[in-house]
Parts: sequence; structure tokens; C-alpha cells
Amino acid sequence: DSVRVFAPATVANVVCGFDILGFAVERPGDEVLMTRRPAPGVRITRISGDEGRLPLAAERNTVSASVQMLLRHLGREQEVGVDIELHKHMPIGSGLGSSAASTVAGLWAINELLGRPLTALELLPFAMQGEELACGAGHADNVAPALLGGMVLIRSYAPLDVVRLPAPALHCAIVYPHVEVPTRDARQLIRQTVPLKDAVTQWGNVAGLVSGLFLNDVGLIGRSMQDVLVEPVRAMLIPDFYRLRELALQAGAIGFGISGSGPSVFAFAPDEATAAAITEQLRRHLSGLGVGSQGYVSAI
Ligand code: HSE
Repeated sequence: DSVRVFAPATVANVVCGFDILGFAVERPGDEVLMTRRPAPGVRITRISGDEGRLPLAAERNTVSASVQMLLRHLGREQEVGVDIELHKHMPIGSGLGSSAASTVAGLWAINELLGRPLTALELLPFAMQGEELACGAGHADNVAPALLGGMVLIRSYAPLDVVRLPAPALHCAIVYPHVEVPTRDARQLIRQTVPLKDAVTQWGNVAGLVSGLFLNDVGLIGRSMQDVLVEPVRAMLIPDFYRLRELALQAGAIGFGISGSGPSVFAFAPDEATAAAITEQLRRHLSGLGVGSQGYVSAI
């Protein structure tokens, strides 16, 4: 009895929707191989692709910890035993929802092995608890799109109200500059209060972006991808952020911003070739600054 599950990387915030918008890409993503075993308990037997950074201890690893929470919820923790192999195919701490992808793959796997007692949406609170363990905040803008696919809005956290939005027929260019930006720290930088004038600009952009998705209006999507609340503070954590934006837009990007809490940046592009050209441009610029990087091009 074993199952192999892939869960995708995700781009949270989508520029103006801090903590409320996110979308899944086709690649990269993480893989979990989960196998039933007779003795109860959740074990991580192998992790690859993490450069030894993730804990194997079941209660500290977000994958096993969230699987344990799910088993406890179902009242089956004394009975069910699983071994978990986690294969990471994306960098940790990159702003690509790396912990979210692993957690979602684990939850999806255990749910499959148990004959799907829960719906995808019912798995979400467990994935959010995994995020809380990973970065101190149980936000859903990575786990929800990793679970449900496409573009997702978290309309409300209490009560949880999640809405699937139409995903734009666009490509996504992602560049991960090799600098360290822990989500925990990137969240602490943000101001806790906002001036009304900025709030008006921000909710105008959120409404514009969502309208753009429904109307399939690429121009409106691009115009709405502006963030006056969070990006101005986080931009300084990313090497030459504003120059990267200029280069992306010159190379044909529809919109550009920080992916999640960074340091990765992303751009929407009309097609795969433009996305590839943007990725190239940004990587070349970073390399000129002495910063290594990885690039990804994916459909949404
Ligand atoms: N919405 C979260 C943040 C995503 O921006 O901190 C973290 O990946």
C-alpha cells in the first residue's frame, strides 16, 4: 500500500493580495512517497533535495506533523502507521511555497491511503497548521493553491472562506536569487497599520486584479499588479529589485513582483518564450551583481 503524490510550488500574494491571493504553477514541486506499515506511527524515512536542512524528527517536520494532526482528527493515530519519503525539487526559503508543497503532498498522500475521508478543502486547515509550524503564521495563500490548483482567493480566515478564481491563460517566469529571506523575518518588517489612502489604492488593485481574471483582461491584470503596502518594505531584501522590475517589463512582462515573502520574484508573461526571455534577463542581471540564481518557466 503506497502512494506517490506531487504538489506544486505556489506564488503567494500575487503582488497586491497579501495573505489572500496565490496561484499554483505546473513546476517545480515536491514529491511524497508514503507507504503503509503495520505498526502505528508516522515516520520520515528519507528526505532528498534539502541539503540536510529539514528535520527528520516526526514532530518537528511539517509533513509528518500535519499528517499526525490529520490522523488525530480522524481518531486513527493509534492504528495507522506510515513511512514517508520526501523528495524536494525546489529550494527551501525561496518564496515559492516550498514548505506548503511538501505539507500538501503529505496530506494528500495520507488522505488517499485512507480512502479519501476528507475533501481537498477539508485538508486545508491541517495544511495551514503545517505553515504555522514552518514560519510562525498559519497563512493559506500558498497551501490553498497548492491543494486546489489554479488561482485562489482567501476571502476570510475566520471563518475560513476560500474561492477558486479563474487562472489567467498566461505563463509565469520565476527567478530565485540566492539570498536568504526567512518568511518569519519578512513578515516582521511589515507595518501593522496602514494609512487609509494606501488602503484605498490597495483594495482598488485587488478588485482590479480579480476583475481582470474574470474578464480575462490582461491589461487590467497588469495595471492592478501594484502593492503599496508590503512590497516597498520587502523590496530591500531583494538585490536590485526595482531594476529587476524594469528589466522584466522591458522584456515583455505583464506584471512583476515578489513571490510570497521573497527572495524569489515572478512575472506574468503572454507566452512561454517571453517568460523564458524574462527569466534570462533577470538572471543575467543578478549574475552581474555577483548573485547566483535559479529560473523557472511554467504555465499557471
Ligand atoms: N503571504 C505570505 C507572506 C506568503 O507574504 O508572508 C509567504 O510565503
